[in-house]
Amino acid sequence: MDKTALTKIHYGMFIITSAFEGKTGGQIANTVFQVTSDPATVAISISKQNNTHFLLEKSRKFALSCLTEEASFEFIGKFGFRSSRDFDKFAGTNFITGQNSIPIVTDFANAYFEADIISALDTETHTVFLGKLTNAAVLNDKPSMTYDYYHKVKKGLTPKNAPTFISK
Ligand SMILES: Cc1cc2nc3c(=O)[nH]c(=O)nc-3n(C[C@H](O)[C@H](O)[C@H](O)COP(=O)(O)O)c2cc1C
Repeated sequence: MDKTALTKIHYGMFIITSAFEGKTGGQIANTVFQVTSDPATVAISISKQNNTHFLLEKSRKFALSCLTEEASFEFIGKFGFRSSRDFDKFAGTNFITGQNSIPIVTDFANAYFEADIISALDTETHTVFLGKLTNAAVLNDKPSMTYDYYHKVKKGLTPKNAPTFISK
């Protein structure tokens, strides 16, 4: 099997956030897609190792911010390569609190969504959560960052526990 074929699949770049009993967290995810439009639902694939996974399982709700091409390395490093188990990712990050009480990251974002988890599909390493949207807003018209742009233009890397990681 030539796993490099998987690199032909396209994605965007997103921040998934959640919160439970006063603890907040969030992470970068590229594996996000719209599943249906009415009712509007999205799917996200999250590693069982991530603190965000723990918060999603407990709270059964999340927020989703769509990142723009302006997203900096520092910002992606903070949300994509470090765990919210170890430090507060929201310190020094602009966010608003959503209708569902989850912090929504507004830095480098052009839109956001809030969702209730209605289903979860277990895989060996990740859980695919299905979220029914309860709120959505457009923040600006800046271009969304694609996963391809992140790799080819920003020359960014993907950590091992991301679903689309390919070992060289
Ligand atoms: C470009 C990029 C894409 C990523 N995509 C995903 C993803 O789709 N799902 C996932 O579980 N982790 C993904 N990650 C990894 C998480 O963002 C990373 O493990 C994060 O540190 C987890 O933080 P947490 O422990 O605070 O939840 C990605 C990271 C990067 C940099």
